[in-house]
Amino acid sequence: TKIAVFASGTGSNFDSIMKEIELGNLDCQVMLVVCDKPEAKVLGKAKVYQVPSFSFNPKQYQNKADFEKEIVIKLAELGVEWIILAGYMRLIGTTLLEAYESKIINIHPSLLPAFPGKDAIGQAVELGVKITGVTIHFVDEGMDTGKIIEQEAVRVQKNENRESLQKRIQAIEHQLFPKTIQALISEKDCLG
Ligand code: GRF
Repeated sequence: TKIAVFASGTGSNFDSIMKEIELGNLDCQVMLVVCDKPEAKVLGKAKVYQVPSFSFNPKQYQNKADFEKEIVIKLAELGVEWIILAGYMRLIGTTLLEAYESKIINIHPSLLPAFPGKDAIGQAVELGVKITGVTIHFVDEGMDTGKIIEQEAVRVQKNENRESLQKRIQAIEHQLFPKTIQALISEKDCLG
């Protein structure tokens, strides 16, 4: 199955996807990394894995539809079937949503619908919740609002700070995301 990974930052989830592909646990091929931050670390990681990337500066386009049209053309040329958002810090617009209906998924570091948006981990620590976690969901036009595919809970420990919780949440993400992608593309389980 041909996929594209969209990311804006470090790319540790991209890295875990590549590792599981190499281990033979994830039966897909990353055709393209799409990145809206030309200095993002994920681009260096793509290079190491020899995955082509498309990075762009949204400010150089008139609007979202303009850069999304360009992305859709590239994805179509490469035969991409699924779009995996792994820390892509931008709402997906109608152009991509229509081209990839029910084929865009996102990972979010909370048990949605709690703490959508930015800094979900910081919000959880601040509020003192005892349980938070990871959610993988289909993407719609909203912010972290699409139908939930998979979740895993994390218990917040005493004296936990943002950094320590983030570490434990990311460790779960790195296992759960590749596993869920594999389940989705092979259509086993009763996902969705
Ligand atoms: C992850 O925590 C993900 O849940 C959120 O953004 C972060 C991306 O991290 N959407 P990375 O770039 O994969 O390291």
